[in-house]
Amino acid sequence: MNSLISDTNGLYLDCTFGRGGHSKKILEELSPEGRLISFDLDDAALEAAKSINHKNFRFIKTNFSMIDDYVEDSSLSGILIDCGVSSPQLDESERGFSFQTKGPLDMRFNQKQKLTCKDIIENFSEKEISTILWKFGEEKESRKIAKLIVKQREKNTIENTLDLAKIIKAAKAIKTKKHPATKSFQALRMAVNSEIENLSVCLEKIKDKLIKSGKLVIITFHSLEDRIAKRTFKPKINFHEKDIPLKNKDVPHEFKISKIIYPSPEEISLNPRARSAKMRIIEKL
Ligand SMILES: C[S@@+](CC[C@H](N)C(=O)[O-])C[C@H]1O[C@@H](n2cnc3c(N)ncnc32)[C@H](O)[C@@H]1O
Repeated sequence: MNSLISDTNGLYLDCTFGRGGHSKKILEELSPEGRLISFDLDDAALEAAKSINHKNFRFIKTNFSMIDDYVEDSSLSGILIDCGVSSPQLDESERGFSFQTKGPLDMRFNQKQKLTCKDIIENFSEKEISTILWKFGEEKESRKIAKLIVKQREKNTIENTLDLAKIIKAAKAIKTKKHPATKSFQALRMAVNSEIENLSVCLEKIKDKLIKSGKLVIITFHSLEDRIAKRTFKPKINFHEKDIPLKNKDVPHEFKISKIIYPSPEEISLNPRARSAKMRIIEKL
């Protein structure tokens, strides 16, 4: 939390509470005046938040894209976003995130949301499914997988996560070290939860929420997430009247963007999910 907290009396936001691991660490660092607001969409996160008994902590069950409904402009000393799915969500087979255990085709962070993975698998066109697998999973065999899903659903219903993982495995010719369904499950989860859209909206709004020297710490697991974070906070190049681009040094920088910070071997051994994590610290100047 050293990278996030510069003023222990400040107001902080944890956009992705999960089961509260990071939120608890932030609260430990704050002074009695410091405050923390945490968001999450998941009912299980709401339950976990009830166990935090701290007068300066508030949990709001909402989408982090709605940040401006709860936080004033120029009010936050620090914001944390830890993207994606949490380990407990993955481990609970009934949430449908895992291709290793039998569960419903669900994958929703917000259990009240209408769209589930089942809707995509049953109702989306072959083209729509292959686009999701390619765009969010960079799955080279997206077309073959989508074709087989559509063929199978015409014969039998695809009931659960293991049925779907089996179809994906059967469609793929290229052998990889990872489970053949890894990329497709990630892509479907990102589509079900509109992850990239929500992140883009939230990051754009964050620009106005941070105070000067306030920091955003963002942990990403997908190249698209990191790319959006970098692009949002990079200065926008203006053009001279004659359409000659300004030199980079002439463009005013509103934010300082760190290089990617990778997890240490110790962190990975404590939390194997951190293996593919990338962190950036973005400071408002
Ligand atoms: C990687 S986990 C966070 C784990 C957390 N840092 C911890 O210490 O337990 C990501 C969490 O973000 C939540 N989430 C994902 N997208 C969200 C969104 N748009 N708005 C609010 N919460 C979201 C998920 O439900 C999940 O609980």
